[in-house]
Amino acid sequence: MLAHLLAQVGIESVVLEDRSRAHVEQRIRAGVLEQPTVDLLDQLGVGERMHREGLVHHGIEIRFDRQRHRIALSDLTGGKAITIYGQQELVKDLIAARLAAGAPILFEVENVRLGGLDTQRPTISFRDDGRNETLRCSYVAGCDGFHGVSRPTIPDGVLRTFERDYPFAWLGILADVAPSTEELIYASHERGFALHSLRSPSISRLYLQVAPDEDLAAWSDDRIWSELRARLASDGWSLADGPIVDRSLTPLRSFVVEPMQYGRLFLAGDAAHIVPATGAKGLNLAVSDVRALADAITLHERTGDARGLAGYTARCLRRIWRVQDFSWWMSAMLHRLPEEDGFAGRLRRAQLEWLVASEAAARSLAENYVGLPFS
Ligand code: PHB
Repeated sequence: MLAHLLAQVGIESVVLEDRSRAHVEQRIRAGVLEQPTVDLLDQLGVGERMHREGLVHHGIEIRFDRQRHRIALSDLTGGKAITIYGQQELVKDLIAARLAAGAPILFEVENVRLGGLDTQRPTISFRDDGRNETLRCSYVAGCDGFHGVSRPTIPDGVLRTFERDYPFAWLGILADVAPSTEELIYASHERGFALHSLRSPSISRLYLQVAPDEDLAAWSDDRIWSELRARLASDGWSLADGPIVDRSLTPLRSFVVEPMQYGRLFLAGDAAHIVPATGAKGLNLAVSDVRALADAITLHERTGDARGLAGYTARCLRRIWRVQDFSWWMSAMLHRLPEEDGFAGRLRRAQLEWLVASEAAARSLAENYVGLPFS
């Protein structure tokens, strides 16, 4: 995304990826694009297939006590919506557009090392196809995920970390079966949270709250489907099952480092922050970071004004903490803590009842869910 944003204003970049093209194009990740993300893809001219194949959703369902409650996202936000489109599909489109433009993107590079970050000309050295290469550049964007090399390159003492672990994880499946719902279902149940999502009219994506150290091997297909059936149960509704084609365990955590920059290195996305999956915000937050970074680099290149670069962290953090709060709030409301006492359980119940009784409460969720405007 960043490379495309920069190319649009004539700024060259090189994209380095340590995995193979096939790996990043097939890895199952997020699937919910918020409105500002969709709008930005359109602005870049890479949204064509997303509009053709993505599914626009105007609402979500909150389910508890076997009752179904619709949050009318579009009615509550002046017409905004979310688009269901797998992250790996978006990645395919971005790579294809990059290659079509003849712009550099290198896969399976090894041994990436950053140098001279506190100078005007940082370097990136790496191995590509058996050769040692060094790039000299003006900026390094650390868009390399939570386990990437960028964040650990920043010297000790510069970063402060803020984090929360949650006493639960998500067991996620991809199933070869038509979704049993038109809109996403977030279900709060005394056995734990469940989510019915989808990827296409014939592929379902579902999640179960499980323990953080859950053993995937203990979950047969039958056990997964019967647990989903129990937690999603509602009168006059049933869940269709089918072959499970992918399964994974996703820990839930909140994590932010401050600042998100060091010299000419700028962190973006999971390299700088993680949100729990409940709000479906991880991908979208990464997109908003790189939009801010592209603005800052463009201003600096065009006018020499470095204030955008200096203010990158502050601009990103305002949105990041808003989204951390939203994702934490949704997580706390919908999941059952392993040792939840009566008081906590009743508070959660009161929140759910308020959410579906009050238009103001529903609008608050809707505004955050469809994505707050950039900047
Ligand atoms: C997904 O479809 O993967 C998904 C949807 C909604 C969420 C999280 C994940 O809140």
